[in-house]
Amino acid sequence: QLQIYAQGIFGGVKPAITTDPNKLREQAQKAMSPEAFNYIAGGAGEGATVDANRLAFRQWKIVPRMLRPTVPRDLKVELFGRTYQTPILQAPVGVQSVYHADREIGTASACAELGVPYIMSTALSSTIQEVASALGGGPGFDGGPPPWFQLYWPVDDEITGSILQTAQAAGFEVLVVTLDTATMSWRPADLDRTFLPFIEGIGNAVGFADPVFRRKFAEQQAAENENDGTTATPEDNVAEASRYWIREAFSGDSHPWRDLALLRRHWGNKPIVLKGIQDPRDAVLALQAGMDGIVVSNHGGRQCDGAAASLDMLPEIVDAVGDRMTVLFDSGIRTGADVFKALSLGAKAVLFGRPVMYGLGLGGKDGARHVLASILADLDQTLGLAGVKSVSELNKTNLRRVSYPG
Ligand code: FNR
Repeated sequence: QLQIYAQGIFGGVKPAITTDPNKLREQAQKAMSPEAFNYIAGGAGEGATVDANRLAFRQWKIVPRMLRPTVPRDLKVELFGRTYQTPILQAPVGVQSVYHADREIGTASACAELGVPYIMSTALSSTIQEVASALGGGPGFDGGPPPWFQLYWPVDDEITGSILQTAQAAGFEVLVVTLDTATMSWRPADLDRTFLPFIEGIGNAVGFADPVFRRKFAEQQAAENENDGTTATPEDNVAEASRYWIREAFSGDSHPWRDLALLRRHWGNKPIVLKGIQDPRDAVLALQAGMDGIVVSNHGGRQCDGAAASLDMLPEIVDAVGDRMTVLFDSGIRTGADVFKALSLGAKAVLFGRPVMYGLGLGGKDGARHVLASILADLDQTLGLAGVKSVSELNKTNLRRVSYPG
């Protein structure tokens, strides 16, 4: 924190987050192509849920305590029996090659350097192995936080099993299954412009590299060509293979809850986390299905427009299952104070989405690193100012709910 502060005061390098999160967004907008920026910044529909996600944080205020020991500060958290250096995780974000040439490798390296756990998206524009090596190695990942793998859950069980096997073999330890994206939402900013690079990029590496996906694609192509002897690979027809992948991953329908047993079979006794939970009843179902954790998330307001702010659902969900499973949180976090509030309301750790992608767009790996370092510094400072030494101390008594008219 001191380093960031000193750089800001003496070196003219302003911390990306503490100055103004809106400024970071504006700078990214200037630096990036309109398609890439719109894809990151955009929300579903009229943006009502994107707005709500931010407004909800304003309804909670920190109540600082005085004359308490606040150093050395401790940001460590315990998740699934492991100690992590920070309560902030990098949220899964797809097709990063569209934002900067450093792509997932840049973001993953920045996270590894700061000890921030990286959640690798299924919609990769790198290979699983490239990301694994950027995170510091193969199975075991000496020293660094164990890497997490996010699954867009294919319809075909055989493809699902094969992808999970590859992720496990590459050393990924925690499985995050995103449930809120079986149907893709309307995102006006993307529809106003061509969406094609993303459609063609989605799932590229994970889907295309997967042996079962490749076999099924070849079979499908052969059937369509009436067995004229063609042995098609996804690379032969990227557009068609992407469409096949998108139908698998965003089929328009959901798996039933009982299908979670299949994921458990493939992932063994390692942690499985369901991302996209907003209703306490679903949190209870996740617990009953033997899941280890949930991410209370509305996908950053990118899916169901008009949905409640993710933060507004957190307290009820923590009340329902917080003592029996690990509750994580995302959607709308921009500052250290936001992290403080989500942790005080019972989240064990939080995921951070768009800001890091603005950093990546602005400055590749170094830009992503600067944004992450800034939010960690901001959190550290907030704790100090509020009279809190360790994130594990945070609870509801650190906050007051307010409601200002207008
Ligand atoms: C996402 N998100 C996402 N989630 C996921 O499970 N798999 C994915 O591939 C992606 N891809 C993705 C791309 C982009 C550009 C964004 C902005 C978001 C959602 C992400 O993990 C997270 O839930 C939100 O970004 C959190 O909200 P904030 O922090 O962006 O407000």
